[in-house]
Amino acid sequence: MTEATSNSNADDQSEGQADLETIVSLAKRRGFVFPSAEIYGGFAAAYDYGPLGVEMKRQIRDLWWQAMVRERDDIVGIEAAIITNPAVWKASGHLDTFSDPLVDCLNCQARMRQDHIEDDTCPECGTVGKFTEAREFNLMLSTQIGPVQDESSRAYLRPETAQGMFINFENVQTTTRKRLPFGIAQIGKSFRNEITTKQFIFRTREFEQMEMEFFCYPEDSLQWHEYWKKERLRWYYRLGVNPDRLRLRDHTAEELSHYSDATSDIEVQYRWGWGELEGIAHRGDFDLKQHAEHSGKSLTYFDTDRNEHLVPHVIEPAVGVDRILLTLLFDAYAEEELENGEKRTVLHLAPDVAPAEVAILPLSRNERLGPTAKRVYDLIRPQFRTQYDDAQSIGRRYRRQDEIGTPLAVTVDFDTIDDDAVTIRDRDTMEQIRVPIAELANKLRTRLEELRPHVPEHDEINV
Ligand code: GAP
Repeated sequence: MTEATSNSNADDQSEGQADLETIVSLAKRRGFVFPSAEIYGGFAAAYDYGPLGVEMKRQIRDLWWQAMVRERDDIVGIEAAIITNPAVWKASGHLDTFSDPLVDCLNCQARMRQDHIEDDTCPECGTVGKFTEAREFNLMLSTQIGPVQDESSRAYLRPETAQGMFINFENVQTTTRKRLPFGIAQIGKSFRNEITTKQFIFRTREFEQMEMEFFCYPEDSLQWHEYWKKERLRWYYRLGVNPDRLRLRDHTAEELSHYSDATSDIEVQYRWGWGELEGIAHRGDFDLKQHAEHSGKSLTYFDTDRNEHLVPHVIEPAVGVDRILLTLLFDAYAEEELENGEKRTVLHLAPDVAPAEVAILPLSRNERLGPTAKRVYDLIRPQFRTQYDDAQSIGRRYRRQDEIGTPLAVTVDFDTIDDDAVTIRDRDTMEQIRVPIAELANKLRTRLEELRPHVPEHDEINV
């Protein structure tokens, strides 16, 4: 449960990155992320995703599912219940050990995680060495099921999606007849009663995870751990995250979770230091053995070649959708000065993660232009994630599309009515080209393809 952040890196790539307030403000102003229940004064660490945020989240999930399930023969997906039998959490160890050490500052009474304190100094008031004894604080959120509100009706909101895969290992294995090595993947909400919920959507109490449990022969597990480190880094290149802002870091023995033999984090350099984006854990045979012991069911794999039952080992890449979205906003954000001295804010998002790929912009809101622009919109929107915007001046609309990261804008002007051609404007270069409407979809497709980040082959990734 430790999530180290540090500022100790010689090659500081956070230089020039926006600060958190700038990102929070852009997210709200443009409709990516809103504070939850804002009309009631908000609710600590809860956020609602707006029209652009949901599009981005959807893309992130789809790209993960595509890479982890659809493009592979060795991984299948499931969706398990969020609230399940509490026995699952006893067996997994979460009831007994899923906790953070909590301390209070004796001077200002601020409550914090002990492992988040640096140099024995209170981050709120600066007092040194004056803390209560640490006490363990369980992070699971609980609820009551049914009309009787007592201990027997207590249930928990899952703190990770992973256990859904372990408790369904047998079901999935027998229904799909998968042979080792194979994986089970899931995307869904998880809940933790986090003590510190700072940095916007980086750490919240309700969040969405994308996790995959990869079951393999014990003797191959270290190799698979290495494989997944590279493969997952590679996926972030596909999303367009600047490789210089990514690194892999192995957990120290003190940091390891109760279930893990070894964990490497993919970390991102944020303005406040390096922070965990994704964990790639070697969970050994911990979970299957625990569930076998607690349920009394055999959770082994029968190897027909060796004619023996064995308990597979597990490698688990696990990441939060919300944290990826925040990373992408930070990474893509730029404030630029144009040749004419004007300033613009732009999100250099890769086309696959931008909320919209194409914006259709009639030069002005005009009776003659409207129907032509709508015709272009109707032609393009079934093929691309498209926005239509005819409010305010064209310059302001370009700025708006830059600020939300739309890679291509299509301007419909008065000449279009006569020559049936439109102008494509490129977000990054701001170059404009004129193309016949009949060729528009193909041109857009080609340009978006050119804008997709280069993804190195698996073997070209250095870890
Ligand atoms: N099944 C393993 C597991 O849950 P974890 O490192 O606790 O491991 C995996 O969580 C990922 O889930 C993290 O790397 C992070 O991206 C995301 N995550 C965890 N806690 C989070 C929180 N409170 N808010 C947002 N994302 C969180």
